[in-house]
Amino acid sequence: MNIHSEKIIIVDFGSQTTQLIARRVREHKVYCEIHPYTTGLDTILEHKPTGIILSGGPCSVYDTDAPSIDARIFSQDIPILGICYGAQLMIQSMGGVVEKADKREFGKSHLDIKYEEGLFSGLETAETSLQVWMSHGDRIEKLPQGFEASAESEHSPYAAMRHTEKKLMGVQFHPEVAHTLIGNEILRNFLFGICNCEGNWTMGSFVDTTVAAIQAKVGTDKVLCALSGGVDSAVTAALIHKAIGDQLVCIYVNNGLMRTGETGSLLKFFSDTTKLKVIDVDAEDYFLAELEGVVDPEIKRKKIGYGFIKIFEEEAKKLGDVKYLAQGTLYPDVIESVALAGATVIKSHHNVGGLPDIMKLDLIEPLRELFKDEVRLLGLELGLPDEAVFRQPFPGPGLGIRIMGEITGDRLHILRKADVIVLEEMKSSGWYSKVWQSFAVLLPIQTVGVMGDERTYENVIALRCVDSLDAMTADWSRLPYDLIGRISNRIINEVVGVNRVVLDVSSKPPATIEWE
Ligand code: XMP
Repeated sequence: MNIHSEKIIIVDFGSQTTQLIARRVREHKVYCEIHPYTTGLDTILEHKPTGIILSGGPCSVYDTDAPSIDARIFSQDIPILGICYGAQLMIQSMGGVVEKADKREFGKSHLDIKYEEGLFSGLETAETSLQVWMSHGDRIEKLPQGFEASAESEHSPYAAMRHTEKKLMGVQFHPEVAHTLIGNEILRNFLFGICNCEGNWTMGSFVDTTVAAIQAKVGTDKVLCALSGGVDSAVTAALIHKAIGDQLVCIYVNNGLMRTGETGSLLKFFSDTTKLKVIDVDAEDYFLAELEGVVDPEIKRKKIGYGFIKIFEEEAKKLGDVKYLAQGTLYPDVIESVALAGATVIKSHHNVGGLPDIMKLDLIEPLRELFKDEVRLLGLELGLPDEAVFRQPFPGPGLGIRIMGEITGDRLHILRKADVIVLEEMKSSGWYSKVWQSFAVLLPIQTVGVMGDERTYENVIALRCVDSLDAMTADWSRLPYDLIGRISNRIINEVVGVNRVVLDVSSKPPATIEWE
């Protein structure tokens, strides 16, 4: 079902900035989707795209097996903007020449605009505003018939080009990155000046269309949703609840590995602020018994995951006639699984028989078109409070993967106390919302210390704070020394059983954000 009145299709040739192009387009309130270059032309046309953007990519168009595209796309009367590799592919497909450049052009460059119209309409010609970001080792040497240069740079006579009659154009720089100071204007000109978009995709309109789509799909059936306390499942539930009210049943499983007070405040939040029907299951004893003596991180994760599905399934059976399972899948997960399509489809197909029954319910994934920051905006639009919408991510296996070695009641107690201090200090200093995640990890070793006149032999807590955009990569947060010092002092003074705090200064990769 095409529920979007206007849609830009971004064809992905493997550039690291493809997702960034999508975000930039959506910032202009124009809906867009990323599709891999292997998508057939017919499928692309079925979307009735208002415009098409061909992304950059790591290959050279003249390589054997270089990613390509059905050249008929260029005669469909749909506006097309090629970016870097995308521009070179368009030019080569239409009869132009692309070759290895004598001088590779990376980083900042300056643009000399020839036509202040089309992509460059209304752009000031002041020196500073023309800075663009190049990243290519190939150069367009000859344009095909019908094309002309619209801008040049120091090393590229065809830094930007356009067809004189058709709405086909390309740039050899990256308008989507912040270093291209005029990038935003260029994309705006493409979307509004060339594709004639209206820019009517807002969270309000997203709610209206998605609510209608959910109602049409679900009818009078029941939907089940697991609440974790995280923003994705809370927003998923709030959106589906808006569509079908009490036909939605939520289940919250307390696995005994939550932060201090988390379960209580989550349940209070769900009953006070939302009108969700929530079944809460206290399974603390079950999980702690299952985890007794387990040290291996993979086995820990598997036991927690298995236990969760088991309990969830038992509860679902009690409800009877449930037809759908709601999940908070986000757009980056969708793109990743599409990119891996060949391999994963075969695997999951083979696995279907072995999947738990609950996974065989029909899925509803209303957030699968959204990025994380858009999910937060949607949460606000649906009336969820800031506190729920802007909370840091928390892993499904909870504190279980922040305790190195065996999980016991005592060790959970130590970690919880340290974790509260980290949270309190991060919040009161204003750093909680500046970082991606901030938490304590309990290490499986004791070290010597001295308290008063006594020798101690106690536990070590590691402080892990990271900056990230999407959790795929991360760097350790440069917190002020006095904040780190305060956290360390408080943990050592207030948490019995800890005499040392260390700071984790690893990036991801090669480390990961969590320790297990
Ligand atoms: P890593 O440790 O892989 O974590 O760098 C990346 C992000 O994912 C979160 N994480 C999880 N979330 N279930 C979840 O729901 C899990 O099993 C899980 N493991 C890691 C982690 O907190 C970080 O935000």
